[in-house]
Amino acid sequence: MTIRLETERLVLRPFAAADAAAVQANCSRWKVARMTTRIAHPYPEGAAAAWIASHAAARDGGAEYIFAITLQADGAQAAAIGASGLHKIAKGNFELGYWLAPEHWGRGLASEAARAMVVYGFEKLAAEALNSGYFIDNPASGRVLEKAGFRANGIARQWSEARRDFVDANRLLLTRESWRQALTRAAESAQ
Ligand SMILES: CC(C)(COP(=O)(O)OP(=O)(O)OC[C@H]1O[C@@H](n2cnc3c(N)ncnc32)[C@H](O)[C@@H]1OP(=O)(O)O)[C@@H](O)C(=O)NCCC(=O)NCCS
Repeated sequence: MTIRLETERLVLRPFAAADAAAVQANCSRWKVARMTTRIAHPYPEGAAAAWIASHAAARDGGAEYIFAITLQADGAQAAAIGASGLHKIAKGNFELGYWLAPEHWGRGLASEAARAMVVYGFEKLAAEALNSGYFIDNPASGRVLEKAGFRANGIARQWSEARRDFVDANRLLLTRESWRQALTRAAESAQ
């Protein structure tokens, strides 16, 4: 069964081998890699293909659920313009990550994808808590998380593979209970 998440403007679907060139190009960009913990810079040749090839086993083993972010407007063969994933860190506890190609920044797309991933985490993966974090020089990512309902949960020094250094990061948390309460409040204010 192909897992597919739809939002107003996006389709999130599993990556395919054909997405490797787009991923390789975007992960090679310093402005993307530097804000992530795991993307190396320079991004090694073939790294995107190897990463995509690892997804099915990670998903089947329950370790990680990674989606390509595509634009609905681009139709059935839409190219990946970003990625978002939920990485299991403990039972019922996942870490949310994402990146988007810079051409698409500033249009609310990462926020739309993050909200869909939150629903997926709580409704399909039965998560009890979702964690995330952003480097202190990446306030845009902080807004994405805040708008998805995440709240401050301390500060940590996290390794950046691209910077080859530890960087201060704000940590955030969204529990199932606070997500449920936010949904209830939203439904009440819509009445
Ligand atoms: C972080 C990232 C995903 C944001 O994508 P995006 O689609 O531009 O995000 P959105 O448009 O949904 O939301 C960005 C929010 O940050 C705000 N923002 C942007 N630049 C900002 C800045 N310098 N300071 C404060 N807020 C900022 C925007 O105004 C928007 O908030 P708003 O909707 O309240 O106006 C994208 O920049 C990216 O991929 N960066 C590189 C990889 C990365 O950082 N990944 C996340 C690692 S934690």
